[in-house]
Amino acid sequence: MSRILEGAGPTARAGTVRAPAATEGTAIEIPRSVEDLVVVLDFGAQYSQLIARRVRELRVYSLILPFDTPLADLLALRPKGIILSGGPASVYDPGAPRCDPGLFTAGVPTLGICYGMQLMAHDLGGLTGPAARREYGRTRLFVDEPEGPQPLFGGLERRLICWMSHGDTVHRLPAGFATLAHSDHSPHAAIADRARRLYGLQFHPEVSHTPWGSDVLRNFLYQVCGCSASWSMESFVERAVDEIRARIAAGRAICALSGGVDSAAAAGLAFRAIGDRLTCVFVDHGLLRRGEADQVVEVFRDHFGVSLVHVDAGRRFLDRLRGVVDPERKRTLIGNEFITVFADEAARLGRPEFLVQGTLYPDVIESGTRTAARIKTHHNVGGLPQVVPFRLVEPLRTLFKDEVRLVARTLGLPEEMVWRHPFPGPGLAIRVLGEVTEDRLAILREADAIVTEEIRRSGLGRDLWQAFAVLLPVHSVGVAGDARTYGHVVAVRAVTSQDGMTADWARLPMELLETISSRITGEVQGCSRVVYDISSKPPATIEWE
Ligand code: XMP
Repeated sequence: MSRILEGAGPTARAGTVRAPAATEGTAIEIPRSVEDLVVVLDFGAQYSQLIARRVRELRVYSLILPFDTPLADLLALRPKGIILSGGPASVYDPGAPRCDPGLFTAGVPTLGICYGMQLMAHDLGGLTGPAARREYGRTRLFVDEPEGPQPLFGGLERRLICWMSHGDTVHRLPAGFATLAHSDHSPHAAIADRARRLYGLQFHPEVSHTPWGSDVLRNFLYQVCGCSASWSMESFVERAVDEIRARIAAGRAICALSGGVDSAAAAGLAFRAIGDRLTCVFVDHGLLRRGEADQVVEVFRDHFGVSLVHVDAGRRFLDRLRGVVDPERKRTLIGNEFITVFADEAARLGRPEFLVQGTLYPDVIESGTRTAARIKTHHNVGGLPQVVPFRLVEPLRTLFKDEVRLVARTLGLPEEMVWRHPFPGPGLAIRVLGEVTEDRLAILREADAIVTEEIRRSGLGRDLWQAFAVLLPVHSVGVAGDARTYGHVVAVRAVTSQDGMTADWARLPMELLETISSRITGEVQGCSRVVYDISSKPPATIEWE
């Protein structure tokens, strides 16, 4: 589908790349629509993905590669710039992650952030060591940048607030470098060797707590690297459609729709490419939120005219789940049942050769790392290719979630689908704690619809990662009129998060919580108590099961 650079051995062709750690055994893919490429070298930072996303928001394509990517391979990609991420190590530690020092003399504009800057300074002959005083969080920054070409702080105030998180600092600059900014405890909080186009920042421009951070990144990309704003979702869609068409040629493809934005966008692209040679299969396990199943059918079949098989398998899944209370058992049963139903449909359709999937870039990065396999085990659709030997078409493999939403919007999908929060594959089954029965599902669905509606009405939905209701496996005493009741308990969960790996409970306005609570107790039969979950992840998880 893309300008694919395949795994390279000693006999590698020019322009091919082997990416050792994060993408082991896989090819590096760059969409054909990319004109300018910026590589983010990952030194183990929590924020590498955020850096890459910020660069893409500035309409320059970025790619994350492991710190030990061989220099020749890196240069073969012809990057317009390189950004070295932060990381937890100290540069003077034995075994600290390092890149090839030849990188700093290769003539490619380079920006080191935090650890990246310390490494650059260290490798070029400066002195890096523990700071007399560590800086964490909001920090005052004083810009000292002299007038001149390639200004990093061009257009910015001379006094700023930035976000720091470091224990080490650069004590002495390497030859050729000048200080562009300092803070109360970092004499060299931003540095540059303009002649060699090497830059360093001790603070984190990628985090939202450095509100003007994108301006510095923009200056680096446009003024220093000479990039242009060439990465757009419109051009991506055009190219992706061409690539899918070329790949599938005269073949046929199948796509599993889930109701989420990823599979919807992948299906939308494939439909544009091959029309009725695509069949979408919507395995409706009866565990979706209210109205979602109808919407999938309405949007794809009725509105777009996609050939859609709607398998109404709710009964079948409920039968499987009878008497099951263990969450992992629920997941396995649902996952296996899903695969069986899907494989049956594929067989009925004469086994199309290609499977279109909405795999995203974070999945690609994570599935290649040593720790990530664990995180993704619950993604049950991943089991499909093993069961039915499809050739995979994954048009979103190079995109972040926010970019997929733009693709979905470009394709004309309804806003509700475009902005849908992540939803677990096993659906409401893991939000009905204890046994999943038709009645209990109906109660949860009603309560959940109230949460969803009120969140939408409040306009806060886009600030939240997820917001939903959970039906607890307990009853609680209440009063209605003069009578004592013994009713259901619903928990409301709303979290903010960047990627679902860590999350904080959302400080929803009290009035909103009050409306949600009184509507649930007033409208959901048999529910007398509502609680709000104020746990962060860790130690809790986002879902209750
Ligand atoms: P947790 O509960 O692990 O959730 O903090 C992190 C994110 O993953 C989603 N999630 C799942 N997604 N199948 C999925 O496809 C699952 O079994 C599953 N469990 C959790 C969860 O909704 C959140 O976005």
